[in-house]
Amino acid sequence: MRVEPMIAPIAERIRPSDDLLDRIRSAVGPKGWLSESADMVRFEREERGLYIGKAALVVRPASTDEVAEVLRICNRERIAVVPQGGNTGLVGGGVPHATGNEIVLSLSRMNRIRGLDIENDTILAEAGCILADIQKAAADADRYFALSLGAEGTCQIGGNLSTNAGGSNVLRYGMARDQVLGLEVVLADGRVLSSLSGLRKDNTGYDLKQLFMGSEGTLGIITAATLKLHPAPREVETCLIALPTPKAVVELLGRAKAGSGGNCIAFEFTQRRLIDFVLKHIPGTSDPFERPHPWYVLAEFAAGDMGGALKGMVERMLGQALEDGLALDAVIAASAAQRKALWKLRESMTEAQKPEGGSIKHDVSVPVSKLPTFVERASALCEGMVPGSRVCAFGHAGDGNIHFNVSQPVGGDRAAFMSGMDAMNHAVHAIVAELDGSISAEHGIGRLKRDKLPYYKSAVALDMMRSIKHTLDPNGILNPGKVIPD
Ligand code: FAD
Ligand code: MLT
Ligand code: ZN
Repeated sequence: MRVEPMIAPIAERIRPSDDLLDRIRSAVGPKGWLSESADMVRFEREERGLYIGKAALVVRPASTDEVAEVLRICNRERIAVVPQGGNTGLVGGGVPHATGNEIVLSLSRMNRIRGLDIENDTILAEAGCILADIQKAAADADRYFALSLGAEGTCQIGGNLSTNAGGSNVLRYGMARDQVLGLEVVLADGRVLSSLSGLRKDNTGYDLKQLFMGSEGTLGIITAATLKLHPAPREVETCLIALPTPKAVVELLGRAKAGSGGNCIAFEFTQRRLIDFVLKHIPGTSDPFERPHPWYVLAEFAAGDMGGALKGMVERMLGQALEDGLALDAVIAASAAQRKALWKLRESMTEAQKPEGGSIKHDVSVPVSKLPTFVERASALCEGMVPGSRVCAFGHAGDGNIHFNVSQPVGGDRAAFMSGMDAMNHAVHAIVAELDGSISAEHGIGRLKRDKLPYYKSAVALDMMRSIKHTLDPNGILNPGKVIPD
């Protein structure tokens, strides 16, 4: 019989005393903490404003030892700790509750690249390294770090690994966890699991690092990682293709992968509405086609030196799609500036939805073959539930991840529309479940989907998660109230 841990819900936790806060402050030194409300507010608000919490203190340790010391104190005194990276998470996982009895531990000051091994194709980065900085360090060494997402200028690799982020390159390179060879993690009791090896083969017992990736700060605090590097591409082709239907999107995906010899690294899709939002709200964006089309794909191909053959392969594949009537129009970026402009259309979609009012969001995945069925059924369902609501379906078609967001009716009441979020989520997730999909493709569970998990995870799976949580964090101090349903 499993002993249920006696862990108080977050609201009943003690507020850290001044003396305790002083001990934590001295563990990180004068540069390592913030306690003024004005300084802490940016660590307390979630990206979409869905969750706004209150921290007892924000600590910003500069080293693994300082992280370990803070956790030793908090574990002994049962003080909750919310790990935070770039705070771009979209499920409320990285911000404190409003109770004011949690410490936010930001990894921002641990942002050193500790090493780069060219012959081993690995880079060793601390958790607070911003994703774009790691991409640049790799490029400077004529290598390619494969994780890429819209928030890469702000999000940090520690947060990427803790959410097992996806982004636009999953199609060829996999998720965040697939970029990792080694990890350094501070456990709830302050012990340090240091397994930063850059080995590609190491079968010596359980692969413990895997536990922490995707655990959203509930099992340990990632302080560094050894990451895989790839050869820098020598040929890159980026194109925007106009299509009639989601079914055509999926058919084109097959042709893009086959026609480019497996060199398709990104395959993003969107319906026209998001393009309209971006053109309306994001300065410096333009439509490369003469007239609007119902669906679009942004596809990127990359390869080593093929003597310029990649462009011909892409042109032939697109030419055939146009000839067959599968594609309605297509443009291949003729310069780096044009490539950047096409990606700006895509990466601006998150921002461009905000001025359109309330948005009920779904970060779901289905088998690629079922993407058209999902889009069709979920669109009809949502527009039926709320007449005048505006479906915005876009995302990473290459891996079956649809960001199925629904904007409120024009001129509608935001609060009234958002009050229907749970009902709409439930109805959309039911379609996802019928199509053997997932209710969280890449953003994670956090607070937003914690109570939904029991509907989609078996009792055995939830029981195992709780057992692992209890083993690694018996006092329940790491990010309480996130991921694991009470
Ligand atoms: P935070 O938001 O700070 O934290 C995220 C979670 O990880 C929290 O639960 C936190 O407690 C935990 N955590 C953070 N650092 C650590 C650590 N060192 N150790 C342990 N736990 C930690 N996500 C995608 O997957 N794909 C996308 O394409 C994508 N596009 C986005 C576009 C935009 C414009 C925005 C705003 C967000 C997007 N996201 C996307 C979501 C977000 O960027 C990712 O979830 C990202 O991985 C979060 O990283 P972060 O450093 O901001 O983490
Ligand atoms: C993206 O791919 O743009 C994000 O994951 C989706 C979002 O920000 O809603
Ligand atoms: Zn995404």
